[in-house]
Amino acid sequence: MKEKLEALRQQALQELETLHTPKELEEFRIRVMGKKGPLTELLRGMGSLPAEERPQMGQLVNQLRAQLEEKLHEKEAAAQTALKEQKLKDEALDITLPGKAAKTGGLHPLNIVLEDMIDIFQSMGFDVVDGPEVETEHYCFEALNVPKDHPARDMQDTFYLGDDLLLRTQTSAAQIRVMEQRKPPIRIICPGRVFRADEVDATHSPVFHQVEGLVVDKGITMCDLKGVLEQFAHEIYGPDTKVKFRPSFFPFTEPSVEVDVSCSECGGKGCRVCKGSGWIEILGAGMVHPRVLRGCGIDPEVYSGFAFGIGLDRLTTTRYKISDIRLLFENDQRFLEQFD
Ligand code: PHE
Repeated sequence: MKEKLEALRQQALQELETLHTPKELEEFRIRVMGKKGPLTELLRGMGSLPAEERPQMGQLVNQLRAQLEEKLHEKEAAAQTALKEQKLKDEALDITLPGKAAKTGGLHPLNIVLEDMIDIFQSMGFDVVDGPEVETEHYCFEALNVPKDHPARDMQDTFYLGDDLLLRTQTSAAQIRVMEQRKPPIRIICPGRVFRADEVDATHSPVFHQVEGLVVDKGITMCDLKGVLEQFAHEIYGPDTKVKFRPSFFPFTEPSVEVDVSCSECGGKGCRVCKGSGWIEILGAGMVHPRVLRGCGIDPEVYSGFAFGIGLDRLTTTRYKISDIRLLFENDQRFLEQFD
């Protein structure tokens, strides 16, 4: 029996050396020290020993149990430490790695140009006002002296939302709202989105942007209009830019003009940006029609004014040589990131 005990000690200690994980150690405890294990079996077998040998044998078995317990504890503690170390290693952070730069948003090219425009007009004493995108026929057409049979009121051009409601086709609607609310002197710009039922292509979009301007005061003449718009063109496109006023027609201004600037890309020689003409059309303008003033309760015998509507999208595409207006509305990150 002593030999059996000795063999068990050897074998158990040897096996313990090869075990490392808490799971393996637990299994060992159950298998070797448990109720069905060889240690218990040895104790049971003591019944067949002569009575005088039993105490000594019992002592030896208990010694072995204690020895194995101690070794198991040792191994378990080592296993726990190893586990902790592994975890720390797995979760280790390399604080010397370079950081990832967080992406920050940037201004949309339309907003960059708009901010420049606002700066220029504010320095000339203009206020910035806002107007609704959903308008009534009155503000978008009637009060602007656009008669009922004018082609601009055709269903093809205007998005109607109901009998009287529509998406504004021009920021000129804001002129009326301002003149109804304020008394001259008035000096405002109103930037915003406008909508027209146009076919989409490289130069047309059903949504685009205008910046409306309006000045009303005593003694305002066409010279004031020319001065303000020339100043604007020089600040936006550079001091050598030539400005051309062409006669035109708008129902709400009389006389009316369209304004071209010499192409900033080729200096007027003709290129892809100006489609070979040397000029880029940037706005419509004119002296506010007396009928429009009168409709807003402003006496055209006392006051006069001028208005202009600048195409923000055209200004932006020519400044940045953007070949397709649709790029301004698609929000493609690869496009927008170039303007950060
Ligand atoms: N509203 C005109 C357009 O959309 C532009 C304009 C504005 C013309 C103000 C004259 C005065 O074409």
